[in-house]
Amino acid sequence: MQITLGTQPFASAETEALVTYVFENGDPVQGRVAELDQFTNGLLKKIAKGGELTGKTLEMTLVHAPAGLKAARLLLVGAGKRDKFDSSVLRRVAGAALRYLKTRGVHNFVFAAREDSAANETAQAIAEGMLAADFESDKYKTDKKNDKSIDSVQLAGFADGDRSAAEKGLARGVVIGESQNFARDLINEPSNKLTPRVLAEKAEAMAKQAGLAVDVLDEKRIADMKMGALLSVAQGSVEPPRMIVITYTPSAAPKSGAPVLGIVGKAVTFDTGGISIKPSDGMEKMKYDMAGGATMLGVMRALAALKPNVKVICVVPATENMPGGKAQKPGDVQTAMSGKTIEVLNTDAEGRLILADAVHYAKQLGATHLVDAATLTGAIVVALASINVGVFGGADQAWTDKVLASAKAAGEKMWPMPMDDEYREFIKGTVADIQNIGSGKGGGSITGAWFIREFAGDTPWVHLDIAGTAWNDDAKAWLAKGPTGVALRTLVHLAMSY
Ligand code: BES
Ligand code: ZN
Ligand code: ZN
Repeated sequence: MQITLGTQPFASAETEALVTYVFENGDPVQGRVAELDQFTNGLLKKIAKGGELTGKTLEMTLVHAPAGLKAARLLLVGAGKRDKFDSSVLRRVAGAALRYLKTRGVHNFVFAAREDSAANETAQAIAEGMLAADFESDKYKTDKKNDKSIDSVQLAGFADGDRSAAEKGLARGVVIGESQNFARDLINEPSNKLTPRVLAEKAEAMAKQAGLAVDVLDEKRIADMKMGALLSVAQGSVEPPRMIVITYTPSAAPKSGAPVLGIVGKAVTFDTGGISIKPSDGMEKMKYDMAGGATMLGVMRALAALKPNVKVICVVPATENMPGGKAQKPGDVQTAMSGKTIEVLNTDAEGRLILADAVHYAKQLGATHLVDAATLTGAIVVALASINVGVFGGADQAWTDKVLASAKAAGEKMWPMPMDDEYREFIKGTVADIQNIGSGKGGGSITGAWFIREFAGDTPWVHLDIAGTAWNDDAKAWLAKGPTGVALRTLVHLAMSY
């Protein structure tokens, strides 16, 4: 799909569909919509009077062959109350419009922004929303409905003086949207097609194409470096693990003492639970247990194009969690790369184990500020459902606030969770330094976060639990069922804010 900035006045566009959006404030026929009403000789006022055009969120009003316009269709999408309208709503409006037209066999359309839009943010949000909406999880379907595709979209409605700002926003939105879909493609892959080795190959190919430095540690180097926590999870599988490292270095030599952002993502390409095996019901979904890692790879893909002013090191530990004959067993004691000993009381709490070594390694490589993303706990689904990402911060509140501010700016819902010292007691070890699950007192997502924090130490660190938000169980008007790529936009914003 191509998204470009149109050059003609939107009302005279010859297109399969002309789209804009309507606010729910008394009279919905105002501004741009009033302009269209004049072109169509009062048609929209009539429709509004009849109650079929109200501006209610994601209401779709489709007019075929609107007299007075050259477009074959006019689509008006409800955008809700004007004072609640923001980039998040616009992303959904643009995405829902695309999916609505796609199912009706439309191949190209013009999307007109409303009058008084901030061109840069508006163009970015529209591009992000449309690219996310265009994604379909149908790679392995042999009977593809190929005729149902959107080939090109033109953005319109910007004032001449706003064109260059709109171009910039559009370009950024395309990079971010495509990178998010790159991550979603990886997340969608079944585990027989995407083993840790294949993920590493795909990461390497992406990095080379994007001009990023890449280093993939194989099982031998992982063992040489004594990454005992990662190895303990991998030992139950015949598939060897990988530690994927991708580095972005800004062209202007960074000053000494400049911050280095370390982003770490859990990539368990399939989580059976290991010997603490999961129930079979719904286990197929555990192919998405690598969503954190895939998202971080997508972030790097975007940063290679957007070129932030900060060095970024991405570390992705990749492994299967299998109950093979050599698998670790509950009660086993493992030594992490940092030297800390871990009592593995539940082999299904494997994400924190592999992150322990990855976080330690990111610090060793020079990261001064850390963010990890992981489908870490079922407990976060209990706490926040599939609405918010759980945010767990260390001692550096300013760093947590910075991440939360980026989430807000990027339009991703994230909610801060408590990290009181009392919770740390829950993972105190009996025979080793720490144990990998809490002692049955609840707070499962918090104890998981505290476990990772043990390895972040004094380095500013934030953990994002995306177990509830990385997979969309029900198709939405603006998004297909399946992987979401959540946290990517937040982390791109974070890196760009340096
Ligand atoms: N990958 C799971 C967490 C998960 C659950 C992701 C649901 C997506 C949806 C993780 O490795 C896990 O199994 N966690 C355990 C931890 C427990 C044993 C302390 C859990 O949440 O049950
Ligand atoms: Zn698990
Ligand atoms: Zn897992």
